[in-house]
Amino acid sequence: MVSNFVSTISDCSSVQALLYGALLVGVYKLTTFTLSLTSLLLDAFVLPAQTFHKYGAKKGNWAVITGASDGLGKEYALQLASKGFNIVLVSRTLSKLELIATDIESKYKVQTKVVAFDASTDEAANYIVLGDAIAGLPVSVLINNVGQSHSIPVPFLETEDKELRDIITINNIATLKITQTVTPVIAATVAKNKKIRGLVLTMGSFGGLFPTAYLATYSGSKAFLQAWSNALAGELKSQSIDVEFVLSYLVTSAMSKVRRTSLAIPNPKAFVRSALASVGRRVGAQERYATSTPYWTHALMHFAVENTVGIYSKVTNSVNLSMHKSIRIRALKKAARAKKE
Ligand SMILES: NC(=O)c1ccc[n+]([C@@H]2O[C@H](COP(=O)([O-])OP(=O)(O)OC[C@H]3O[C@@H](n4cnc5c(N)ncnc54)[C@H](OP(=O)(O)O)[C@@H]3O)[C@@H](O)[C@H]2O)c1
Repeated sequence: MVSNFVSTISDCSSVQALLYGALLVGVYKLTTFTLSLTSLLLDAFVLPAQTFHKYGAKKGNWAVITGASDGLGKEYALQLASKGFNIVLVSRTLSKLELIATDIESKYKVQTKVVAFDASTDEAANYIVLGDAIAGLPVSVLINNVGQSHSIPVPFLETEDKELRDIITINNIATLKITQTVTPVIAATVAKNKKIRGLVLTMGSFGGLFPTAYLATYSGSKAFLQAWSNALAGELKSQSIDVEFVLSYLVTSAMSKVRRTSLAIPNPKAFVRSALASVGRRVGAQERYATSTPYWTHALMHFAVENTVGIYSKVTNSVNLSMHKSIRIRALKKAARAKKE
């Protein structure tokens, strides 16, 4: 039937070869697209949530969470405690950490430790304090959640030196140094207990998935984390440690400055629930190794852009540019109004 169709179009053998080639490529593309979409839908809507037994839940193991005093980090801490992990909470403000630690201990009957330091300082003492706090503990999970973005969208050439340095130091240097501090402890835990695996999960962002004008430094810092995390995933696999990178569009939080939830913008509770349920699954990040876009609307957005205009395309770049330009204009107007009041 196919050969009849091809021969009705042309008698020329080279044209026919071209048509067969085009047909093969089409069938290949359609098959991979259908398989990816099916896999996304299964991950997002059908498969049961991952349990954390393989990472040592309810067996006295510890999870270390950075940026744990607010937003997504606080939710990672609460939800991992509810799964039966003891929790090490890390962030800048000791008083906030202590309140959450007390809350976690009374609600979930697990142990907690708090470690307070300013990640933007990148002092050796920060990592020594953290290392001392976890020395000898059976740590099996690290959540690299701490991160900073621009206070408002800003052209790269106007980005203030402190903001630029803080973003790179917190998102990149501190995340790498914290991982170098905690991962050997995770490796020791899983070496002692061969029945469990370790997990290093790092928060990415759509700001880094798509090159994002007016958030250029933040965008680059999260794109850096994507490549670093994927490289680490390959390195640590043989040591029974899973390394996962989690992508997210907006979530209501102090950082996003979005207060109201919507179909596309979940609250931290719903987002973290989806992230923990999907560990090891790609959901919307079907084309990426050791990466997940776990929240269902974010997953559909990621998949749609990837399979239409493309993540690095001119179209995506200019849509993102005009969106952030207008967010900047609104933010400047709001700041001017606040100044007058
Ligand atoms: N919210 C979103 O829309 C969104 C979207 C995509 C990705 N993300 C990523 O998700 C992660 C969490 O974001 P979030 O929205 O939950 O942020 P958030 O609500 O602003 O919370 C940030 C947390 O990090 C801590 N922190 C901030 N600066 C610190 C510093 N210099 N040293 C130590 N700790 C510091 C804060 O602690 P203190 O309160 O003690 O300062 C707080 O616990 C980030 O990596 C972010 O890039 C967020």
